[in-house]
Amino acid sequence: MIQFEQVSKVYARGSVAVEDFTLVVPSHRTVVLVGSSGSGKTTLMRMVNRMVDPTSGRVLIDDVDVREGDPVKLRRRIGYVLQQGGLLPHRTVVDNIATVPVLNGTSRRQAHHDALGLLERVGLSSEVAKRYPAQLSGGQQQRVGVARALASDPNILLMDEPFGAVDPIVRRDLQDELLRLQADLGKTILFVTHDIDEAFRLGDEVVVLRERGQIAQQGTPEQILAHPADDFVRHFIGADRSERSLTTTRVDGRLVVVDGQGRPVGVMRDGA
Ligand SMILES: Nc1ncnc2c1ncn2[C@@H]1O[C@H](COP(=O)(O)OP(=O)(O)O)[C@@H](O)[C@H]1O
Ligand SMILES: [Mg+2]
Repeated sequence: MIQFEQVSKVYARGSVAVEDFTLVVPSHRTVVLVGSSGSGKTTLMRMVNRMVDPTSGRVLIDDVDVREGDPVKLRRRIGYVLQQGGLLPHRTVVDNIATVPVLNGTSRRQAHHDALGLLERVGLSSEVAKRYPAQLSGGQQQRVGVARALASDPNILLMDEPFGAVDPIVRRDLQDELLRLQADLGKTILFVTHDIDEAFRLGDEVVVLRERGQIAQQGTPEQILAHPADDFVRHFIGADRSERSLTTTRVDGRLVVVDGQGRPVGVMRDGA
């Protein structure tokens, strides 16, 4: 469990990135922070692994303040996936994945063996193991980024717009893969995105942010879709978009679902 307790962050020259933010990320759940660029998402995420220290307030992991103890050790037990992979360019894929386990004391041989298993887990063939990051597609690099984050078997995964730089079809594949992985692994995932559809697909819980990390609404995707808290949320989630405002019409005894432009998009199952 990750707890943010009334955290604020004022950067040099007085810019307030986050103001009085409080949130609980329950264990084994995926919580998605979604907000526009500059709303404070990255700042909040980096408070968890101490790449940013809050100006006030605390962040706790399983009831222990992250500021107790060594930040390097802390980071080695938290998986972190960035938008641009963050892979080491001069190391092979397998070395990239094995780096942290080796630092943690796993033998090189074992770490390489485990890395091949992780590649398979994220849907890559072991053929890519000996390549360098630049020899992979954007989507493959992000898969390696996820494998690397999983390598030390952390309880917590921080994912900062990890699929933001890949095209929509690959993005969808990566999202599906993450859902599959999470069903198996049950990590505590804090995921950041500016894409509300991604947030709704991946989040057990979604936190919609305004500027300065102010929470506009927090809830399951269903709750937010059903009852947007205000006009800001309504606008942010695109409540008026035609694919969000569905109606049904009866055709030969079946209920056909129709979008806001009158286009048929599906059929209600019997009993639904
Ligand atoms: N190192 C920094 N120094 C000064 N201001 C920063 C720094 N990092 C972020 N900010 C500012 O803090 C605000 C929140 O930034 P960030 O957390 O990166 O938002 P997001 O990830 O939602 O785009 C922005 O206004 C940004 O310009
Ligand atoms: Mg960011």
